[in-house]
Amino acid sequence: MDISELDALQTSLNGALNAFREELTKAKLPELSTFSLEPHPLDSPEYLPSPRLYEARRLALACVGQLKTLLQSPYEKVVEHTLAPYDAVCLDIVLRTGVIDKLSEEAYRTTGLHVEQLHRFLDLDPFKLTAILRYLAAEGWLHEKNEGVYALNRPALELCLGKNGRKWALTRGKAKIANSLLDAITKPEWKYSTSPLETAFQLSHHTPLSLFDYLKANPAELEQWANSVRTYGDAAASALLVDFPWKSLNSQTIVDCGGGQGYLTISLAKILEDVAFVIQDLPEVIPITRVNVNRESPAAAQQGRIVVEAHDFKTPQVRRSGKTTYVFRLVLHDWTDQDCTAILRNITAIHGTVKVIIIEHVALPCTISSTPQEQCDESLRMLIDAEKYATASPPRYVPLNFGVCAKMNLGLGVHLLGVYNARERSLREWDSIIRNAGLRITLVCPLRAKLSVIECDVVAVDGESD
Ligand SMILES: C[S@@+](CC[C@H](N)C(=O)[O-])C[C@H]1O[C@@H](n2cnc3c(N)ncnc32)[C@H](O)[C@@H]1O
Repeated sequence: MDISELDALQTSLNGALNAFREELTKAKLPELSTFSLEPHPLDSPEYLPSPRLYEARRLALACVGQLKTLLQSPYEKVVEHTLAPYDAVCLDIVLRTGVIDKLSEEAYRTTGLHVEQLHRFLDLDPFKLTAILRYLAAEGWLHEKNEGVYALNRPALELCLGKNGRKWALTRGKAKIANSLLDAITKPEWKYSTSPLETAFQLSHHTPLSLFDYLKANPAELEQWANSVRTYGDAAASALLVDFPWKSLNSQTIVDCGGGQGYLTISLAKILEDVAFVIQDLPEVIPITRVNVNRESPAAAQQGRIVVEAHDFKTPQVRRSGKTTYVFRLVLHDWTDQDCTAILRNITAIHGTVKVIIIEHVALPCTISSTPQEQCDESLRMLIDAEKYATASPPRYVPLNFGVCAKMNLGLGVHLLGVYNARERSLREWDSIIRNAGLRITLVCPLRAKLSVIECDVVAVDGESD
């Protein structure tokens, strides 16, 4: 007999939660608690969950997202969604007014603070604070212990000093750019533009400059922006080191193109002792990169095993000798298809044994199957004791991209549209860019993170061997 959407999602959610619990126990991890005053090991970007734990969590979240859509009144969904700008605004307020810092002080971590106390400490109106704090508590950010008394909860720990979530959240500009997106995509002269000079960024910031040129002229913003980009890479760093077979690149040179602050190279240099690295970026970024490399990898920097240099990847590649792999992490998603092809062609033009590695989110469609197919239970079972990560196939009524689990990347994709006229791409779209550049995909490696690795080599032409 056919089962309903509610039954199917409930069954899948139960299966996912059971698998999640089993994996927690196997890994000797503590129970999850939103009230905890300590981060859970799973909250650390360094912790790499077992493949089954990672997939069970993804599936459970996807089911919860689908169940919410199924159960919620459509009108309430509309109202919630249109009020969503306040999600970001309220988070910004508690960060910038010092509410989070006050609540994170040792004396108040457990007890929390009444809005009247926050008013005295921070000179903020308790009536106004209540609207903001209770909204955030309902969104799962704070714990309202008693009426008007707020304490940090586990998610809010990510907003405390030194945490990656805080660095990301404090980078300004997203709301401003979002407010100009409608104008940018309907402006008659710009609506079909692919130029990064004709976007919501220029409209919202009243500038003719691209984001990169704007940051060059505003060094303080450049540093903040670079730090937030770093956190996005950090979130995938441990999975990236384990899930992709980096050892196959031993005894060669790796060029980290648009390498930013250099953290990808810094972590790869620890596991690939037989590889020489070159980090390339724009001249204004290079001083930050140099400081980081000298601090984090002093020996490799001194031996010249990590070289840092200014290079514009829109010009012909200067590192072109021997066996070389060119890595682009979170770089190409900032560029239009034509620009990506042109950037990659600078590599294809090199003769020799050349590989290209692209590390990006690979977007899947949000299509939903309602016909019986391989049960997700089965793919989660296949992952029992698995060391190698593989993605589980979504069960009935769960989107191919696991719905809400893709929101972080797709949200960033809309932001990229607002900043560069770019967005996150599907594998078919990557494949088209890669082929147009004279490359071909040799491996697509999903990670226990929101990114995948696409490995490519150069297509041989005119009898040339690749
Ligand atoms: C989103 S960041 C990614 C940084 C780094 N790959 C990472 O994963 O952390 C994009 C980088 O591309 C660099 N970039 C932009 N235009 C460039 C160009 N024309 N040549 C070289 N690097 C460029 C930026 O300065 C920035 O560091």
